[in-house]
Amino acid sequence: MARPYVIDELISAKAIAARIEELARDIRRDFRDTDKLVVVGLLRGSFVFIADLVRELDMPVEVDFLEASSYGNSTESSREVRILKDLRGEIQGRDVLVVEDIVDTGHTLSHVTKLLNTRAPARLATIALLDKPSRREVDVKADYVGFEIPDEFVVGYGIDFAQRNRNLPFIGAVRFTEDA
Ligand code: PRP
Ligand code: MN
Ligand code: MG
Repeated sequence: MARPYVIDELISAKAIAARIEELARDIRRDFRDTDKLVVVGLLRGSFVFIADLVRELDMPVEVDFLEASSYGNSTESSREVRILKDLRGEIQGRDVLVVEDIVDTGHTLSHVTKLLNTRAPARLATIALLDKPSRREVDVKADYVGFEIPDEFVVGYGIDFAQRNRNLPFIGAVRFTEDA
């Protein structure tokens, strides 16, 4: 049996939406000379964030996905990032924005940006809705960050706990309750 837990709301759906509007404004400003931005969502966690973010980007975008997994069904980073699904399109000479839900140890974002940089994009920028700097194991920081959060086990808005809770509309913190 899984340990019982409850979920406490950490960041409301409203607060997320307001922050995404601000982030989108920054991105539009920084990429105003780009004719078509390639927005790359890292599956699976970023699927909700990228959907909301691109709808706030009032500019031409191409949407692509890359699946990288370091945790699998475990809650511990394996520190070994696997590419399970590669991009569909070419990014050479293109302006690319990599979209992550959360940067924790940093292994995933570091691995993915290194990989994509070998394909010689004109520009490679990164955005993470959440940043947990206290857990960092590799020196990486997203160019755009929605919220810096403490070392809580978070779920919702695309983020899972053992493949559950991705569909919560807010970011919550998992709190384990005492076994009876
Ligand atoms: C989670 C999360 C980030 C990554 C962050 O993905 O969505 O992609 O871990 O952790 P890190 O900074 O320690 O690498 P996961 O590997 O669980 O796959 P998922 O997105 O399919 O849930
Ligand atoms: Mn992920
Ligand atoms: Mg996960």
